[in-house]
Amino acid sequence: MNNTLVVVGAQWGDEGKGKITDFYARSADVVVRHQGGNNAGHTIVFDGRKFALQSIPSGIFNPHIKNVMANGMVINPVSLVEELERLHKAGVTDYQLFISDRAACVMPYHQMLDGAYESLKGGRLIGTTKKGIGPAYTDKYSRVGIRMGDLLDAEYFAERLHDALLQKNLELKMLGMEQCDFDTLYAQYRELGERLRPMICDTSVMLNREMEQGSKILFEGAQGVMLCIDHGTYPFVTSSSPTAASVPLNTGLAPRYIDRVVGVCKAYTTRVGEGPFPTELHDDTAEYIRERGHEYGTVTGRPRRVGWFDAVVLNHVRRVSGINYLSLMLFDVLTGLDTLRICTGYRLDGRHIDYVPSTIAELSRCEAEYIELPGWTEDITSVSDYDSLPANAKAYISKIEELTSTEVAVVSVGPDREQTIVRRPIF
Ligand code: IMP
Repeated sequence: MNNTLVVVGAQWGDEGKGKITDFYARSADVVVRHQGGNNAGHTIVFDGRKFALQSIPSGIFNPHIKNVMANGMVINPVSLVEELERLHKAGVTDYQLFISDRAACVMPYHQMLDGAYESLKGGRLIGTTKKGIGPAYTDKYSRVGIRMGDLLDAEYFAERLHDALLQKNLELKMLGMEQCDFDTLYAQYRELGERLRPMICDTSVMLNREMEQGSKILFEGAQGVMLCIDHGTYPFVTSSSPTAASVPLNTGLAPRYIDRVVGVCKAYTTRVGEGPFPTELHDDTAEYIRERGHEYGTVTGRPRRVGWFDAVVLNHVRRVSGINYLSLMLFDVLTGLDTLRICTGYRLDGRHIDYVPSTIAELSRCEAEYIELPGWTEDITSVSDYDSLPANAKAYISKIEELTSTEVAVVSVGPDREQTIVRRPIF
């Protein structure tokens, strides 16, 4: 066993990874964000205070933890500096943050294009967060991207920006949008680079050194596997891979270091943005869950779509990402419902299937097949050991374990760090 733990979102994002990462971060030496950017919103509550992080790793509140923003991320330097300022204002000034020199930089034209491409999609919007994430990854792969390390080299950055703007301004012009001025962008991003310079480094070298020294490393995924560019509900996905499989590539660490993965899932399901969602609810139960679970987007404030727990989705995630344990979040939200449902399979064009079809056309035609379980009414928000949970609550958890062949190691019964039932220590 290595000293690593990967936290993976096992649904469509917003599963409560921030809380769990923060929980495990207490025993970590290093916390690493490895993909995505400020499209993520991680809410962490401790000492009665609530913090919303977007691109900064969740270990930032502990001065002993080294926090890494790895090469697989897309980083918006403007919003990163704002995020750091917000932390300073909240009194968080003693922290360690390392930013990969190879991470892609989100530029203003990425944000402009994100909105423009969405409006060109006719009625079939992806519903992106409009943070420029997709266009920044697109530029990375088409090799016109600017990397965080580039901002530190006056001459090289000028070349990279010049070349990027040749393409980007043409695109903006074709879309009838205002073009970007080289001098303004150059001055602004050079200044941001200098501001972040003390934190920008080769994080792969650093992480490998930490591994060799026996440090405990926690990898914090953003979004969820159902939003994975390869294994998610394409095209209603994000532009990176939140799977455990992507960690080595996204960090510059060998795959042999990755062997323990906790899938974080809600006791029900939510989704933001568009795309098929077989267990979605449109009734009073959805309202009940949305209000009790405060199911509104951290980044965009949009009401989240709500549905029953879907074991087909969880098994898909277990297969494509690898998951050894589950962390079941927002369990207390289900209290008070008479009957709970769990989806065990889909009916597609009259036949039963137990996998997630690759096309959204097929997934949209899938009807969820359910089993029903009795609910509970007892307040569980201050339960601290598993055995004290109501019998029906334990039966619900056992059923999830049986259907997903995965052990539930953690049950979260409220937003605070203390409201966490640990059945099995895994890190
Ligand atoms: P993008 O990541 O902004 O390109 O958005 C693509 C899709 O991923 C949209 O449906 C977003 O709502 C969704 N998405 C992106 N980040 C998150 C997240 O952190 N939680 C939940 N959904 C997300």
